[in-house]
Amino acid sequence: MAFAYISGMETQPASALATPRIPSNLEEEIARLKAEMNAVILAHYYQEDDLQDIADYIGDSLELARRAAETDADVIVFCGVKFMAEGAKILNPTKKVLLPDLRAGCSLEISCPPQQFKAFREAHPEHIAITYINCSAEIKALSDIIVTSSNAEAILAQLPKDQKIIFAPDKFLGGYLNKKTGRDMLLWDGSCMVHERFSEQELIKLKVAHPAAHVIAHPECPEGLLTHAHHVGSTSSLLKFTEDRPGESFIVLTESGILHQMQKRSPGSQFHLVPSALDGGACVSCNTCPFMKLNTMEKLYLCMRDQTPELELAPELIVAAKKPLDRMLEMSKNIAPTAIRQTISN
Ligand code: 13P
Ligand code: SF4
Repeated sequence: MAFAYISGMETQPASALATPRIPSNLEEEIARLKAEMNAVILAHYYQEDDLQDIADYIGDSLELARRAAETDADVIVFCGVKFMAEGAKILNPTKKVLLPDLRAGCSLEISCPPQQFKAFREAHPEHIAITYINCSAEIKALSDIIVTSSNAEAILAQLPKDQKIIFAPDKFLGGYLNKKTGRDMLLWDGSCMVHERFSEQELIKLKVAHPAAHVIAHPECPEGLLTHAHHVGSTSSLLKFTEDRPGESFIVLTESGILHQMQKRSPGSQFHLVPSALDGGACVSCNTCPFMKLNTMEKLYLCMRDQTPELELAPELIVAAKKPLDRMLEMSKNIAPTAIRQTISN
């Protein structure tokens, strides 16, 4: 039975209280629940620092999908957004998947409603659908191959040059891939609300102030920003770029959460996060993902204690969405693992 804590003592069942009490020793309690449940905690780089620090694995979307597919833990606790937790459930359907806050969506997912995407596909019967992993399970079920920012180029390289392709939902990642690979993929009109609003003006000011700094950017940024970048890549690729250059200076065009691992791994380096175009460039916190930041240590503890919210999907949706995700993992076999393993418990 789950107990609530009052002044550090177990007193009465949590269900008897309107407001769930949170113990003061959260880390210990989460570790205890993890062992009790035989759970693995996976966290994306955009999570709050304390969530990253308590996770068994931290990684980008590809790495977290791989960890979820391979784990022999009974429960996957996903500190990330819903499409990531859905991916874990689809790839490993017999596991219980918990997400601290089920409202943790993604603007790319929202920008691609299944009915409209289905109609788009039907209007282009000769095209296959290569779909960015930042989408709903329904969109995955309507797709041929899923890609992430880590493996999209490698997967496209395995397809015939003249293959007609629809790419959804991120028009900026799609545009970047078109330019990089010389393809002419038809792009869905979606975007990430965080990456599309970095201020180019503020970026230029930072470049002037730090002329030796490397500009590093996630490919969800618009083309105008990417033209300034010395390196474009997934979160794990950006992290590796900074680790390979200890003591240097970096102007960072991605969500602020990544700075935690960058600073941890390269304490002697300098990192400058580009402010958002909102509020005339004055708003640095506008570049945090509001969905990723819905998860907190308190919610992580409660979701493990109460085993809810649980991510559940209809069995037929799992079967349909698993095919393009399995294809992704199969076609990414030559990409080396990059997940950071923090504990040896799972
Ligand atoms: P990565 O797969 O590069 O970590 O990107 C995930 C994401 O949501 C970026 O906004
Ligand atoms: Fe989605 Fe953008 Fe948040 Fe990534 S940063 S989860 S793409 S809204």
